[in-house]
Amino acid sequence: MTVDLVVIGKAYLGGRFEEVAIAVDSGVIVGVTKPPLAPPSNARVEFGEKFLVLPGMVDLHVHMREPGLEYKEDWRSGSRAAVKGGVTLVVDMPNNRPPSNSCDRLREKLQRASEKSLVDFAFYAGFNPRLEELEDCGGLYVGFKLYPEDLFAQDAVSVFRRAASVGKPVVVHAEDPSFFRKSRRHSEARPPVAERAGILRALDLAEATGAWLHVTHLSTEIGLLEVLRAKVSARHRVTFDVTPHHALLSEALYSSPLSKVAVVNPPLRSEGDVRAVYASLRSGLADALVTDHAPHSLEEKLADNPAPGFPGLELALHLLLDEILSGRLGLPALELYCRRPAELMGFSKGSIAPGFDGDLVVVAKEEWRVRGEELESRAKYTPFEGRVLRTKTHAVYVRGLEVYTAGYFMAEKGGRLAVPRGRASGFEAP
Ligand code: NCD
Ligand code: ZN
Ligand code: ZN
Repeated sequence: MTVDLVVIGKAYLGGRFEEVAIAVDSGVIVGVTKPPLAPPSNARVEFGEKFLVLPGMVDLHVHMREPGLEYKEDWRSGSRAAVKGGVTLVVDMPNNRPPSNSCDRLREKLQRASEKSLVDFAFYAGFNPRLEELEDCGGLYVGFKLYPEDLFAQDAVSVFRRAASVGKPVVVHAEDPSFFRKSRRHSEARPPVAERAGILRALDLAEATGAWLHVTHLSTEIGLLEVLRAKVSARHRVTFDVTPHHALLSEALYSSPLSKVAVVNPPLRSEGDVRAVYASLRSGLADALVTDHAPHSLEEKLADNPAPGFPGLELALHLLLDEILSGRLGLPALELYCRRPAELMGFSKGSIAPGFDGDLVVVAKEEWRVRGEELESRAKYTPFEGRVLRTKTHAVYVRGLEVYTAGYFMAEKGGRLAVPRGRASGFEAP
């Protein structure tokens, strides 16, 4: 049998690297063999010593901004940023203008993304007390997203109840706005107790309804302790993710020239919180690494009240590999950005194995210095400015389609809606 594509190189096969041939046909990996046993193919690409072949990364928390906020980012610029970061599936947040909280609006987003995205995508549904407006398009969203103000609204409980009945997660930005206060320092304006209170509220709602709670961008030690306690004792499912910025950067940035760029919610935290978040990655207690890619225009970032968030898609994998190659994190930490998030949501992605989508990322072992102005995202700044990384994305395949090689985008679009198979795997409530 002749296959569409064969990629040969030193590939990550879960826990180890091995020299293999990966055969992809009709978008799906059909074989992983020793190179001499590869099936014939008209597209046979061999990557030498300098390269590593990884599964495409899966990012569960991304803001592509389209529709409505295209001046910040759109599906073209955002998906190019994803490709540069080795990410082949993004799950997009609903805080568009207007919010993506009904079937009509999700269908419009689907249309836009299908026309422009280079990478595969999935969506969350935004808060909507009229849940019937989300009833007829369950296949269009993989979970419900609640922001701090939604979490404390009267109707939050009905979202949890619905989520429980359809078996989807409620993804929560857990902060309690009643703890916010005025301060010039962003980390003091939104203190750790706000996160803890947000988590406790979300846990109460999950407890009352039996819904699966997923806490996103967890940033504090006290928040982490609450989530871990619930993970082991609750009858409902509790999962969480963390970001590279909360694991690697501290509130010290708020007294630096990057103070405005570094404004993000939840804020960058104390050294102790950073250590705790990092430990959740190292131990694998975290369920996923996500970027919270949240681009804004430079004017919005440099304003007196800087818009919270910054782009992250282009750097996360390489920051993670830097931690791994330096020995600070073990190799399995890589799975927090591919296999684990894919399994969590039930996508056939994030692993190099037969039956999984042919999403492959080839990284070159090459040092480079991060420069915001060189980012593919429309947002050309980053709190990681100046950092030296040791890997760079060299080639990217999305379901076997070559979308990027050696600095050039090889396709204009090609991404499509990713649909979870059955229910997310691997979890039995204790
Ligand atoms: C996000 C945004 O800009 O949409 N901002 C942020 O600071 N993280 C919203 C969010 O994820 O909370
Ligand atoms: Zn958030
Ligand atoms: Zn976000």
